[in-house]
Amino acid sequence: MAKAQPQFTCTECGARHRKWMGRCEACGAWNSIIEETPLATGPRSPGARGKVIELSTLQTKETPPPRALSGMAEFDRVLGGGLVAASAILVGGDPGIGKSTLLLQAVAAFARAGLSCLYISGEEAAAQVRMRAQRLGLGDAPVRLGAETSLRDILTTLDTERPDLVVIDSIQTMWLDSVESAPGSVAQVRASAHELVTFAKRRGVSVVLVGHVTKEGQIAGPRVVEHMVDCVLYFEGERGHQFRILRAVKNRFGPADEIGVFEMTGQGLAEVANPSALFLSERGQNAPGSVVFAGIEGTRPMLTEIQALVAPSTLSMPRRTVVGLDGGRLSTILAVLEARCAIPFTELDVFLNVAGGMKVNEPAADLAVAAALLSAREDVAIPPETVVFGEISLSGALRPVGQSENRLKEARKLGFTSAMLPAGGKQSEDTGVDLRAFADLAGFVGEIFGAG
Ligand code: TYD
Ligand code: MG
Repeated sequence: MAKAQPQFTCTECGARHRKWMGRCEACGAWNSIIEETPLATGPRSPGARGKVIELSTLQTKETPPPRALSGMAEFDRVLGGGLVAASAILVGGDPGIGKSTLLLQAVAAFARAGLSCLYISGEEAAAQVRMRAQRLGLGDAPVRLGAETSLRDILTTLDTERPDLVVIDSIQTMWLDSVESAPGSVAQVRASAHELVTFAKRRGVSVVLVGHVTKEGQIAGPRVVEHMVDCVLYFEGERGHQFRILRAVKNRFGPADEIGVFEMTGQGLAEVANPSALFLSERGQNAPGSVVFAGIEGTRPMLTEIQALVAPSTLSMPRRTVVGLDGGRLSTILAVLEARCAIPFTELDVFLNVAGGMKVNEPAADLAVAAALLSAREDVAIPPETVVFGEISLSGALRPVGQSENRLKEARKLGFTSAMLPAGGKQSEDTGVDLRAFADLAGFVGEIFGAG
């Protein structure tokens, strides 16, 4: 029988190599190649048959999986309406963003709601966690606490205790003695996560894994962990801003893209029930370059302020600085403005910013971005109490976007009286907001800014 050749696989990009290397030739990652034992190949023994697996239909009489509510409404919503039993959740975020704080508060809330909860810290000593709990007013919550990094001991403990929920803070500190590499290495993180997730499924324990994110915005090393878990949540926010956003990027039990908004205070994270009001609270009245965008985050409408500054540049390559939006999208919008409306931004520095540390990924923000850029360039303020939304196509046409009605309702709730949007959208006339619809960007520019 042919002996199986050893295989070397990059844990970052999945490329296969014939021999081990320090650096993956395919993606350039260092120290990411591990040896994998392939399944034995060779001729199959004739006549040997597997057994027939049992097949079933898609019909079920089972009720949907029971969900536990923590009472932290923002957290429950991001999970898709509460915690599903025996689920595995990964919470990623920059170091120091507040992951430990958030999960300590969440685990305390679940414990108070009657779940049996464990919090295992691999980064901080038990006394440190207790002190933080005290300061957050969670000292009396029935959470059991452990400070441990040996996964074998943790799994044995979990098997004896059989809690409903366990938080592992963080997966990068865990190590398995069967894997010969340092804690935090890709192999260790992958093996530890695999053990914990398998345990969760087999024993019906929900597991929350905390993972640090590298500078490139990936959960350190193992993108593989993302495939193993049921939900991937990112905790994000700008340093210097007190707002924090918990975003579901993957959820097997609910909508992805759902967000929860929190504010970091002296007493931990406070939920923000009305984020639109908060994101607009710092808005200067009617300054040129400021536009309110009526967006949708997950299932919720949310108004945010988009700010632009355009100034003469002394550089041969003018600056394009973007915070909270996609830089590529800005280039596209600038190109459309130049090609379809004859408004050049050459020799001009462009700064674009979403106020409050929010991140906006919707194409519906295009028109608001264009409006902010034009408003800054022409030094003309957008009419007061106006929201803007719509997608810009490369031809310069404006495309209607989904959920217009929800956007308009939210705008009205916050006291806005008019809206600029693409023509041809489906919304009832009766939203209480003055609608100004435009078929293309050139028409929009002509009407609002007088032909550029
Ligand atoms: P932490 O939860 O330790 O971050 P992570 O686990 O993501 O590394 O949060 C650390 C930051 O949060 C720290 O800079 C201080 C701030 N913080 C507050 O502002 N208020 C509080 O009540 C707590 C507990 C932390
Ligand atoms: Mg921490």
